[in-house]
Amino acid sequence: MPANICQQLNKAKNLDKESYVSSLLSQMTLKEKIGQMSQFNNDDDKLATAIKNDDVGSVINEVDLDIINEFQRIATKESRLGIPLLIGRDVIHGYNTIFPIPLAQAASWSTELVETSANLAAIESSNNGINWTFAPMIDISRDPRWGRIAESLGEDPYLCSTLGVAMVKGFQGNNLANKTSIAACAKHFAGYGASESGRDYNTTNIPENELRNVYLPPFKALADAGVSTFMASFSDLNGVPVTGNSWLLNDILRDEWQYNGLVVSDWESIPQLVTHGFCEDEKSAAFEACQAGVDMEMASDTYAKNLPSFIQENKISIEQIDTMVSRLLKLKFDLGLFENHFTESRNPTEHLKNTYLNVAKEVATKSCVLLKNDKQILPLCKTKISSLAVIGPLADDGYEQLGTWIFDAKINQSVTCLDAIKDYVGNTVDVKFNEGLETSRSNNQDSFEEAVKIALSSDVAVMIVGEEAILSGEAHCRSNIDLPGCQEQLIDAIHKTGTPIVLVIMAGRPITLEKILPKVDAILFAWHPGTMGGPAITDLLFGEACPSGKLPVTFPRNVGQIPLYYGQKNTGRPASDATFVDINDIEVRAPQTSLGMTSTHLDTHFSPLFPFGFGLSYTQFEYTNIQVNMHSFSMGESVEVSATLSNVGSVDAEEIVQLYIRDLVGSVTRPVKELKGFQRIYLPAGQSKTVVFKVHTDELAFYNRQMKLNTEPGLFNAWIGSNSATELKAVFEVVLTPE
Ligand code: NOJ
Repeated sequence: MPANICQQLNKAKNLDKESYVSSLLSQMTLKEKIGQMSQFNNDDDKLATAIKNDDVGSVINEVDLDIINEFQRIATKESRLGIPLLIGRDVIHGYNTIFPIPLAQAASWSTELVETSANLAAIESSNNGINWTFAPMIDISRDPRWGRIAESLGEDPYLCSTLGVAMVKGFQGNNLANKTSIAACAKHFAGYGASESGRDYNTTNIPENELRNVYLPPFKALADAGVSTFMASFSDLNGVPVTGNSWLLNDILRDEWQYNGLVVSDWESIPQLVTHGFCEDEKSAAFEACQAGVDMEMASDTYAKNLPSFIQENKISIEQIDTMVSRLLKLKFDLGLFENHFTESRNPTEHLKNTYLNVAKEVATKSCVLLKNDKQILPLCKTKISSLAVIGPLADDGYEQLGTWIFDAKINQSVTCLDAIKDYVGNTVDVKFNEGLETSRSNNQDSFEEAVKIALSSDVAVMIVGEEAILSGEAHCRSNIDLPGCQEQLIDAIHKTGTPIVLVIMAGRPITLEKILPKVDAILFAWHPGTMGGPAITDLLFGEACPSGKLPVTFPRNVGQIPLYYGQKNTGRPASDATFVDINDIEVRAPQTSLGMTSTHLDTHFSPLFPFGFGLSYTQFEYTNIQVNMHSFSMGESVEVSATLSNVGSVDAEEIVQLYIRDLVGSVTRPVKELKGFQRIYLPAGQSKTVVFKVHTDELAFYNRQMKLNTEPGLFNAWIGSNSATELKAVFEVVLTPE
């Protein structure tokens, strides 16, 4: 058989990327180019033939290594061109080994662990022939009703950018061509997290200034960090669905940011332009998406069917198609696929398997957030208690603790809390178990009696409740974010026994906890902690590890407060304790002006239940002595803000020290606080340390009314502390550089 085009090019050794791709492109027909722009789902029965005919650039959702290798063989040996395939899969928080959900990973505030988890997920999935993941999801998420908050890195642009970049580094490694690297995807560009009422796929309306200051920074950070691909969001942004939004995809992404990577649509989001009411038929949808710069169509075939006619009709130039296809081919070149497209299954060694599990446990340990710990009930001591009741529908369910997006998980690898607790206490403590409710959604109280019985005969009840995996994630939104089913009633029943309650919550989103807070002695919020959730939580409960996670998202008191986030604007009438009026304090027929006249609800306090950045420890940290090294400095300079951190408790522990600033006066109003830095610091009991943050004036920039990124001179507050409600404050001033 004569050598195909790629085989010929491969023989011409040392072709650089540009020459390889342009030479290949010059030998491709229009149909073959459009083939590269098409991603097929693995269930298409014409897939093998289509690959042979050079009609496919990428396959999504195939995970059988033999089939993947066979597809690569057909693509590279049997087609005219011989171009290898991109094999895409949603590797979101692990592949076989499941790390905590992304929102949990964000609660670890650990760039190292987030990078390592992504790297291990890349190793496991690349071992299975996958070379492209659709992660990280870096949509700013300020609505906990939205199921996809689970997949997000939380509400804050700085935290989300920092951890998103770490994930990309983990997936892509130092060199995409390494066998264990996979291409990452910044998604969903942009604004998807602002879907109205937290309902998935819903409309978003985001003023350009807010888009630029809040929603776009993580995407810009990932573009600058070299993320290989972007995904256009399903959502309608200010009336123009993103998949056809040339302003966002061309003007901002390509022209302003100079991003040269591949843009893929979301699943069938091109034909959905018709459903949005943005295009009259699939032909015009294909046109709008192509004009907007969507290089590859996921799962649908409007490009294959319609792009040729646009070329014939001179509506789209062949140069435009070439630019789009060359982005795809360059990614394949960067991944080293032209030379190495087959995957030999590299069975992980025992050592590697242990590494996966150890890291999964460490991330889970560091992402749990201790929300309450009355009278230091935690940590439990196995020599001081003789009996323990473990109660709740999530105590012994290896599947539900994994969370959303776990297609490829080895479920039987999961270690549950019940198993891990039993293993840890051995014969020293009598552990009794009752699930209380069959599932987290169940309303059947038949088991309550037995659960109460074991609580009555135990020193402590550890209740493991929350949301089962399917209640968060894509298209799984809730209008009420209390614990579902009868779980609150279960807590009530156990509370009535008088046995102290340690509540562990596994969930894919913040849960409204105001009603149950007084009924329990401690709360450890574990998110969906993944494969090693059980051992991680057990270590925390028994003091083998000290809680150090901090909330990456605000916990509201009730859904009516949503959206509630720390970086809000001050308003002209900010809420304050001094002016706050409770509904019950209002006299009957009180005149209208008797209210506080500030931005509050009458029936709930204006503050969150737990602020962004919050998380307790088994030790106590104290912050004192905040200082700035210069009270006034010029544009282009950096200021150092420092504070003394002291571990005044009795446990060696890690603390996530947070720096916030406020730009007091802006040409566009600025948030009351903005995170500008954080450090995870280990401090032995009794010790103190000066923690220093350096902030350059460029880091104080924001998009102004002209949509220009600019630092404005003037006064700033700076705070250092353990969460976003910190009050330890310093002041500095940025002055204009003298001419
Ligand atoms: C739709 C989701 O929105 C996206 O995040 C995901 O990557 C694709 N489906 C592929 O599964």
